Amino acid sequence: MTTRTRIRSLGEHVGQEIRLCGWVRQRRSSGGKLHFLQIDDGTGSVQVVVKQGGVPEDQLEAARHVPFESTVIVRGLVKADSRQAGGCEVAAVEFHVLNAAIADFPIGRKEHGVGFLMDQRHLWLRSRRPQATLRIRAEIIKACRDHLDGRGFTCVDAPIFNSAAAEGTATLFPVTYFDRTLFLSQTGQLHMEAAAQALGDVYCFGPTFRAEKSKTRRHLTEFWMLEPEIAFGDLEEAMEVMESLIIHIVERTLTNCRGELEALGRDIGRLESCVAPFPRISYTDALTSLEGTEASIPWGEDFGAPQEDAISKTLDRPILVHGFPTAIKAFYMRPNPANPKVVLGCDMIAPDGYGEIIGGGERSSDLAYLEQKIAEHGLPKEAYEWYLDLRRYGANPTAGFGMGLERVVSWICDLGHVREASPFARTMARTSP
Ligand code: 4AD
Ligand code: MG
Repeated sequence: MTTRTRIRSLGEHVGQEIRLCGWVRQRRSSGGKLHFLQIDDGTGSVQVVVKQGGVPEDQLEAARHVPFESTVIVRGLVKADSRQAGGCEVAAVEFHVLNAAIADFPIGRKEHGVGFLMDQRHLWLRSRRPQATLRIRAEIIKACRDHLDGRGFTCVDAPIFNSAAAEGTATLFPVTYFDRTLFLSQTGQLHMEAAAQALGDVYCFGPTFRAEKSKTRRHLTEFWMLEPEIAFGDLEEAMEVMESLIIHIVERTLTNCRGELEALGRDIGRLESCVAPFPRISYTDALTSLEGTEASIPWGEDFGAPQEDAISKTLDRPILVHGFPTAIKAFYMRPNPANPKVVLGCDMIAPDGYGEIIGGGERSSDLAYLEQKIAEHGLPKEAYEWYLDLRRYGANPTAGFGMGLERVVSWICDLGHVREASPFARTMARTSP
């Protein structure tokens, strides 16, 4: 039996006989004697010609009636054909249906609403748009790892079961853990701080969970976060790593995923204009710039979508907003010694209404301050003793950040909703498929 060839590499086999496996996505027939089948295998798409005389009569009949989405095996000759997308087609000498689809495929060519498509996500994945998005997501994951590995960071995995909150108790997911209650991880940061004091620059990249009661197009309950932690790093260095990381992601996507970006209808020129340096603004200056607009808020209030959108509206690249009020930020953030009302923290806001894609900054290494903040936030001190130990034994200052993968994918792909950036999204309203 001929070894199986992926459709992607058919071009290397012109003039040869190959065997391929795939799904029937389209069919055109000319009478009962000639059938043009469009077959995909996930790596590409090719036209297979099944004709009378080329294959046995029963196989010709099978090609005539095979339902869409059926799985087939074809043996045939690869012929160059410049009219075809991949530059070739396959003339079948054998055609077998491995598994015939037994019902009409629910996703047709007509327009479907995203709600319906999300219900059918397990089948919708077979369409061009989700395929392109997920390939870009995979490239972005690789780009993140390559970038940080290349800068000498060590990947350290953070646990998912945790005994305490790091990002506020309001978004914790409790889970029964034998006879106790634990929580799904909101962030790997606290554990990365421990790892950074052992290994130097580290990062984790994994699933995180937030019981977000917000039904916005930016919120998932389960999402992936990339979290670098820089030993002896400060805010300046964290901002530099954020910026270079995003630049690398954009470049890699433009180089390796052009076809996918085109398939999604992404304005590629706009993505190309996303180059360093990214503008930087303090929270306080940002509020001044919003004065007199509908997005204006009093000093001390946190940004919501209206503020993020107003600040990034005229930009073609992300913006870094630093110096948020200490009172609205997480307990671990280091206050600015020159003005303790604000923290040495920073959010990166993507252009075109994609909102906050990164949050981070310097961590406080002051034991007494952290003990006070833990009390102020009403957090159970026992659960943080190990974290406080990091300040008892060396108190190595670190800085770091978390990049929301789906938010970045959503922006790079120009998707309407962050749920499309996840293979199987979890939101307040969606837990299946
Ligand atoms: O700003 P956040 O809450 O920061 C942290 O969790 C820090 N501990 C990270 C760190 O310093 N290591 O979350 C970081 C990013 C946000 O900027 C956003 O991109 C994403 O995670 N994010 C979400 N993405 C989708 N759905 C949600 N509900 C999200 N919440 C945060
Ligand atoms: Mg944040």
